[in-house]
Amino acid sequence: MKALSQLFLPAIALAVVSCGGGQTTNPQDRLTVHDAEINEVIAKMTLEEKVEMLHSKTNMSSEGVPSQGIPDIKYTDGPFGIREEGVPTGFQSAGWTLDSATYFPTGSALAATWSPELAYKYGTGMGREARLRGKDVILGPAINIQRLPVGGRSYEYLSEDPILSADLAAEYVKGVQDAGTAACIKHYALNSQETNRGTVNVIVDERTMREIYLKPFEAAVREGGAMVVMPAYNKVNGYWCSENNHLNNEILRGDWGFKGFTVSDWGGTHSTMGAALGGLNVQMTGDRYLGPALIDSVKAGKVPESVVDDKVREILRVRYAIEPIPEDEANIVMTSQKPQQQIAHEVAQKSIVLLQNDGILPLAKSTPKIAVIGLNAKASTAAGGMGAGVKTLYEVSPYEGIASHAEGEVSYAQAYKNYMGMFGRWLGANDPSVATEIDEAPSPELLDEALKNAAEADVVIFFSGTNKSIESEGSDRENIDLPVSQNEILAKIAEVNPNIVTVNISGGPCDLREACKLSRAVVQGWWNGLEGGNALAEVLFGEIAPSGKLPITFPARLEDSPAFALGNFPQKAEVQGDLFGNQYRQDVQGQNRFRMQYSPDAYYSEGLLVGYRWFDTKDIEPLFAFGHGLSYVDFEYSNIKAKAGKDAVTVTFDLTNKGSMEADEVAQLYVKYENGAVERPEKELKAFQRVTVAPGETVKVKLSFDLDDLRWWNEEINGWDLEHGAIDLLLGAASDDIRLDATVTI
Ligand code: BGC
Repeated sequence: MKALSQLFLPAIALAVVSCGGGQTTNPQDRLTVHDAEINEVIAKMTLEEKVEMLHSKTNMSSEGVPSQGIPDIKYTDGPFGIREEGVPTGFQSAGWTLDSATYFPTGSALAATWSPELAYKYGTGMGREARLRGKDVILGPAINIQRLPVGGRSYEYLSEDPILSADLAAEYVKGVQDAGTAACIKHYALNSQETNRGTVNVIVDERTMREIYLKPFEAAVREGGAMVVMPAYNKVNGYWCSENNHLNNEILRGDWGFKGFTVSDWGGTHSTMGAALGGLNVQMTGDRYLGPALIDSVKAGKVPESVVDDKVREILRVRYAIEPIPEDEANIVMTSQKPQQQIAHEVAQKSIVLLQNDGILPLAKSTPKIAVIGLNAKASTAAGGMGAGVKTLYEVSPYEGIASHAEGEVSYAQAYKNYMGMFGRWLGANDPSVATEIDEAPSPELLDEALKNAAEADVVIFFSGTNKSIESEGSDRENIDLPVSQNEILAKIAEVNPNIVTVNISGGPCDLREACKLSRAVVQGWWNGLEGGNALAEVLFGEIAPSGKLPITFPARLEDSPAFALGNFPQKAEVQGDLFGNQYRQDVQGQNRFRMQYSPDAYYSEGLLVGYRWFDTKDIEPLFAFGHGLSYVDFEYSNIKAKAGKDAVTVTFDLTNKGSMEADEVAQLYVKYENGAVERPEKELKAFQRVTVAPGETVKVKLSFDLDDLRWWNEEINGWDLEHGAIDLLLGAASDDIRLDATVTI
């Protein structure tokens, strides 16, 4: 084993060196350095040995080449923490004691930092913990575009904007891989809804796909060097993602130069010929398609053996690039370690978004009596949500964070019951503490206690929001309403104490219109990892200034958002049961009656007008716009200068902190084509930067983007095209808060 891991060492060293910033070549090229050696390995393998590598060995591993001493590949979920160890046959807990991991802030929280540097650190943290557990591939980051405010996995994903998603995804991947673990970007592609996720057929035009939905994947492959890609469950334009020749062979391998391998989402492989010729390397899970049936297809001359060889080569490239960890060297310390906990803390601090504030925030630590009200102040957000749940080493709740930072008295009242989806309905009959309906009326006892605490306090901090039964893989929310009568409870509280700060704990947007009316300040707190409660308290008490910015539009009404306005979502036809259980039963257990036959179409006819692109173009005012986020200081933008060079557009300006504390600002640069011939959204984000500014200080900030980033996908030439002419550069603190502008000619 030792000798083997030494064999792989040079590959690792090479990977790290070439991962450094500023590279001009495709980082994918580092995967091919051992091809000669790998070809020799393949030459010695039987067909059976090769095919053995193309499907699951256990629920979270695929086979190496035992006859030549090449170890298996070990996978682990997921995007926000190395998942609890499961038994080899499934997801049930293996009952380990050292597998508690660092629970990092979830995707939308990471994106709210608008910090590629933090995304990189986050990736290194994930990568290091994967190594401690002996894992080769992290099934993450999850980087689909947040198309729907109600999306069950919107909290896992980063943003509604392709550039913000792309920059963060690329850095996350670099971080993971610099730590010696391979990143598997998922779910490729257009897996932007959970409703019918296992069958839905996304109908999308090529331009929208290239400019919006594929951008994060392209950046993660070309800039980040992602070694593994997970084709999604859904179909795109009629073909399953796991057998989509256009996505997997023409775009991923052809256009982007991907040299690693693809692994289907669990239960997302659908046929032998489709998967074999449509670009899938590894079937997860089971061997129904890329197992004995593939051997037969090769023997029958239907699939050339060279296709199998190519698949094996791509897998071995990753195997050679990632040092295998011998079993006796893994799992000897706790997975969660201090440096990673600190990264999680820093991300949480910079993700919190101050949505509204009349000056009540920051709160004085000496406030004599604070009433913390609402179950979300104490509820854990680490576990749940299926693949993305984390067995966290610890989790500082918002209540604990506030209580440990306050100098006065802090009371707590639960105010509303826990809503646990269908599990709640089963439990609810016997357990009065669980809400059986999502809009259940307030419990008189809980309400009385909350009102009593509120009346006695100087300030109320009300915790609204959802939980991981409401926002979860496998289903979408029905709406963005606050659940379990939170608005009604808040209105009653406001009658006894108007000094309310509402902190909304959710992964995706909620309808906060009532909360905004009834509260003096409103904060978006996300699902913020194991240090989330401390980070929140630091912001509420003004130890640090809030600096998160929304990575997704918060619509006033769900009907205002594009897919709903156009009637594109939800599709009427629902297939009973989630795909995951059903296909697993079929693929692994051979129970064919669970096969889903029907594929409802999801039309993406809003095209490029996703998120703020829609709201701006259609002139619809959202509740809070993309990029919005206040601070405790005011920033002044001045002295803009813009230049269009041969390869890039550069903008410089002065940013002054007019307040009395250090604070970060995220400056955002949008582009608008004033008289463009090509149809485009009103404006589009092209560059952004987080800047730390001392009180009273003025810093010079430079933002730039490549001319290539202005290109649009021209379906007539089937390629990228640049439109020349005048463009407006709109610089500001949010998509609806443009402070300066300039015009350049391209
Ligand atoms: C999810 C993936 C996850 C996989 C393995 C699937 O249900 O969609 O994101 O990585 O399960 O847990």
